Amino acid sequence: MPTAQDISKDPMPLLEARNPRVSFGDVKALDDMSFEVQPGEAVGLLGQNGSGKTTLINVLTGMLMPQSGSVVFGGENMRLSELLSTASERVAA
Ligand SMILES: Nc1ncnc2c1ncn2[C@@H]1O[C@H](COP(=O)(O)OP(=O)(O)OP(=O)(O)O)[C@@H](O)[C@H]1O
Ligand SMILES: [Mg+2]
Repeated sequence: MPTAQDISKDPMPLLEARNPRVSFGDVKALDDMSFEVQPGEAVGLLGQNGSGKTTLINVLTGMLMPQSGSVVFGGENMRLSELLSTASERVAA
């Protein structure tokens, strides 16, 4: 069990998905999906057809705004208006 001191030493995640939810009509494309990516960490994304990989990437890159939950990049909530104003920092996917 990490102590409070250990936790305070953890680097801030570069990217956090805080349960961003996306539905297309009755189809829940993204639900109950939360994770962190640390600076320098390489992460793979696997899933069966229709499991929501493309939807997740679209949410992480700001192409699609989640209906609830959020994506935090560098400690800041990603919002479409901010993404549009910092286009050079966007990720191509
Ligand atoms: N624009 C859309 N309109 C309606 N339904 C959609 C749309 N985009 C995705 N979906 C549905 O959302 C679910 C997740 O789709 P998504 O494309 O994210 O999955 P995927 O893991 O990328 O699939 P694949 O492996 O086939 O690329 C599927 O049921 C899909 O049919
Ligand atoms: Mg796909």
